[in-house]
Amino acid sequence: MWSFSNPVNIQFGEGVLSRLPELLDGQNYALLTYDEPWFSALADQVISQCGVPVAVLNQIVPNPDIKDLLPLCQQLSEMPVQPDVLVAIGGGSVIDTAKVVAAAGEDFDRVYQLLTQGKGREELVCTPIIAVPTTSGTGSEVTCWATVWDSAHERKYSLADPRLYPQVALCDPSLTHELPEFLTICTGLDALSHALESIWNKNNNPVSSTYAVDAARIILNVLPELAADLNNAALRSRMMEAALKAGLAFSNTKTSIAHNISYEVTLRRGTPHGIACSFTLPYVMRSVSGENSVCDQALKAIFGEDLAAGSDYLENWLKDLGIKVQPEDYQYDPADWQRLLTSALAGERGKNFIGQGEALLTSYAV
Ligand SMILES: NC(=O)c1ccc[n+]([C@@H]2O[C@H](COP(=O)([O-])OP(=O)(O)OC[C@H]3O[C@@H](n4cnc5c(N)ncnc54)[C@H](O)[C@@H]3O)[C@@H](O)[C@H]2O)c1
Ligand SMILES: [Fe+2]
Repeated sequence: MWSFSNPVNIQFGEGVLSRLPELLDGQNYALLTYDEPWFSALADQVISQCGVPVAVLNQIVPNPDIKDLLPLCQQLSEMPVQPDVLVAIGGGSVIDTAKVVAAAGEDFDRVYQLLTQGKGREELVCTPIIAVPTTSGTGSEVTCWATVWDSAHERKYSLADPRLYPQVALCDPSLTHELPEFLTICTGLDALSHALESIWNKNNNPVSSTYAVDAARIILNVLPELAADLNNAALRSRMMEAALKAGLAFSNTKTSIAHNISYEVTLRRGTPHGIACSFTLPYVMRSVSGENSVCDQALKAIFGEDLAAGSDYLENWLKDLGIKVQPEDYQYDPADWQRLLTSALAGERGKNFIGQGEALLTSYAV
């Protein structure tokens, strides 16, 4: 028995952002984006078309951290009118921030209590969100969770609630045209990881698998081409479609061991999320191949019949994009790496892994 559900209204295509005024239909909105020139100009354009928002929350930095989220909610609390809807224009950090603000309303403590003590879910506000992704990576536009970092305590939390699925995802590939090469690669690798992680996952099902296989095949073909031809609008559109499909896949499965490994690497080494969650993929794939026929079938649909050759292909594909795949490249010696793998396997996402922990430890030991 299995089920699949995702309530997000997805609207996709070059220029689809122009539908925002119609979607808002005169409601009070708050606009969330980065405080960067390109995004400020985009915000001005949105405001001229949709009217003045009740607040512009633009103090958003990559990897939203508890220390940065509190002032945003405080800023909202000072507004005379609270928003009916939040419009998030940016990458995963902006959309995840919107989910935290949506859940907390003007009082960040609601979210803080839930994350740190597991208390007060019924207190969450859950203002509706319109998500406008400007990276092709996180899939946050179709998931109901937000990654919240606590760098001071070297912790990562996941805020998760079905009421936090965005109401609408406006996926406009033209918004990614200015994404530089390194961010294009990082975010594309995050999407690839979402696709593969939803396959070697205890929650995998036939629908998530269909999305995941399709997404992974597109990314393996398109990302190297796009990295060499950043102005190619057709490739930008394919990558946004792939990230969206990977998002749909893992919106029902969550991620798995590669993501659980990545959190410590990001917290301790500062490695960007997309690299931290993808440099282990060839080793994870080697360790899981042959373990489960459904998983094998999906991986063969992506990599061909010979999964050992497929794992080598994936490793070389990553290296060709400039990604280092050895733990030493991330300053982990063998003992420290085995410790990290063991603790990641016991983590929440690690427990979703369909493979054998021992096989993963061994794949690195040989
Ligand atoms: N909620 C989820 O399901 C989910 C899944 C994966 C990752 N995440 C989280 O998302 C965050 C990462 O998000 P991200 O990778 O999308 O990047 P991001 O939002 O952190 O942005 C990274 C940088 O990209 C720049 N940028 C974004 N769009 C741009 C554009 N169109 N043109 C030029 N520059 C642009 C931003 O200014 C920023 O400096 C992390 O915190 C990660 O943990 C969430
Ligand atoms: Fe991710």
